[in-house]
Amino acid sequence: MSIHFSVLADKAGGVIVPLDQCPARMGGMRQWDAIVIGGGAIGLSLARELQKRGRKVLVVERGEPGREASHAAGGMLAFCEPHLAPPLRALALESARIYPEFVGEIEAESGLGVDWRREGCLALDHDEPGLPGCRRLSADEVRTLEPRLRAVNATWQYWPESSVDPRALVAAVEKAARVCGVEMITGEAVTSLQRSDGQATGVETARGQYDAPVVVNCAGAWAAQIDTGSAAVAATRPVKGQMLAVRPATPVLRHVVRTPQVYLIPRSDGRIVIGATVEEAGFDKRTDPAVIQRLHDAAAEIIPELGEAKIVEAWAGLRPGSPDGMPILGSTAVEGYFLATGHYRDGILLAPVTARVMSDLIDGRRLVVELEAFAVERAIRA
Ligand code: GLY
Repeated sequence: MSIHFSVLADKAGGVIVPLDQCPARMGGMRQWDAIVIGGGAIGLSLARELQKRGRKVLVVERGEPGREASHAAGGMLAFCEPHLAPPLRALALESARIYPEFVGEIEAESGLGVDWRREGCLALDHDEPGLPGCRRLSADEVRTLEPRLRAVNATWQYWPESSVDPRALVAAVEKAARVCGVEMITGEAVTSLQRSDGQATGVETARGQYDAPVVVNCAGAWAAQIDTGSAAVAATRPVKGQMLAVRPATPVLRHVVRTPQVYLIPRSDGRIVIGATVEEAGFDKRTDPAVIQRLHDAAAEIIPELGEAKIVEAWAGLRPGSPDGMPILGSTAVEGYFLATGHYRDGILLAPVTARVMSDLIDGRRLVVELEAFAVERAIRA
C-alpha cells in the first residue's frame, strides 16, 4: 500500500500531513525544484543538502526510506582500504574529513544519535594504506588495545577509521531531511524519467507524474530500472552481502576489526556486527544458515567468545555495484537529469561528500573533488 506523507518544516520539528495537502500538491500542482529518486543514505543526504540550499525537494522511494542497502550496511567508514583507486581515495578522504560536521548537523537537526564510534580499526594481514595515522602494531599494543583478540603475533595495523550505525544514521538523515522541508513519497516506484526537448521535466510512477527540472537518480541497486528512453541508464547491479549480529554476554571488543575473512563492528548497545559475503545473486536477499555459520565461525577464530555469543539477527542486503566498483556521479545527456549511485561498499562513508558534490554540480558551483573518474559515460547502458 502506498503511504503519502510529507513533513512541513517548522521550528518545532515538522508536522506530518498527507502529501495531497502539501502546498506543492494543492490545486493539482505537483511541481518541485528537484526530485531525488531513492530514499537511502545517498538520496536522503542529497535531498537534505539541496533543500537546505533553497530548493523545494521531493524524494520518491519505492519502499520505505533507508530500508535497503543502508539498512543492511555495516557502517565502517573505510577510507583506509589499501587498494582504493586514487580518485575513489580522494572522494573517501574528503567524505571522512567532513563526516564530523555531517554527523554533528544531522544529530542536532534530528535529535537522534547515530552511534558514531571513533576508537579506530585494527586490520589483520592487510597491505599498508600509507595514510596519516595508520601504523603497524606490536603484539603488546594489540593485547592492550583488544585483550581478547587471538593471533596477536600476526601482522596487525591500527587505522584511524570510525564507524556509525547505518540504521540510526539513515533514520537521523531522514528526520533531518523532513525537518528542513523535504517532502517524501514512499511505497511508490519511479518507472520513468519524464523529459521534453532534451530536458528532464520530472518522473512518473504507477500513481502519477511529479514535475521538476532537476531529477537525481539515487536508486542504488535499482537505478537501472528507471526507463529513461534513449538517455543514460545506470549500469548498476545488486551485489548481495550476508551478515549477522551477535550480542556477547560481556563486552569483548571496542575497535572495528578487519581480517581478510571477516569484519567485526562493535555497536555501543553491545551488539557486534559480523560481515560480509560478496555475492552476485541478483535481487535475492535470502540468508543461508550455512553461510551465516561460516561468518560466525570466522569471527570466533579471532575472538573465541564470539562463538558463544547469541545471534540476534542475520540479514542480507544489496549493494549497488557498478562496472568498475566506483560510484557513478554526474550529469547525463539529458539536461537536469543526474546520477548519484553505484556506491557499492562505501555508501555510508560517501553520503556526505556525495550530497555536497552533487549539490555543487547541480548548482553550477566549483567542485571540491574532481568527478571525471566517476562520470556517467563510463557506467551506462545504451
Ligand atoms: N561496507 C561493507 C560491505 O560492503 O560489506
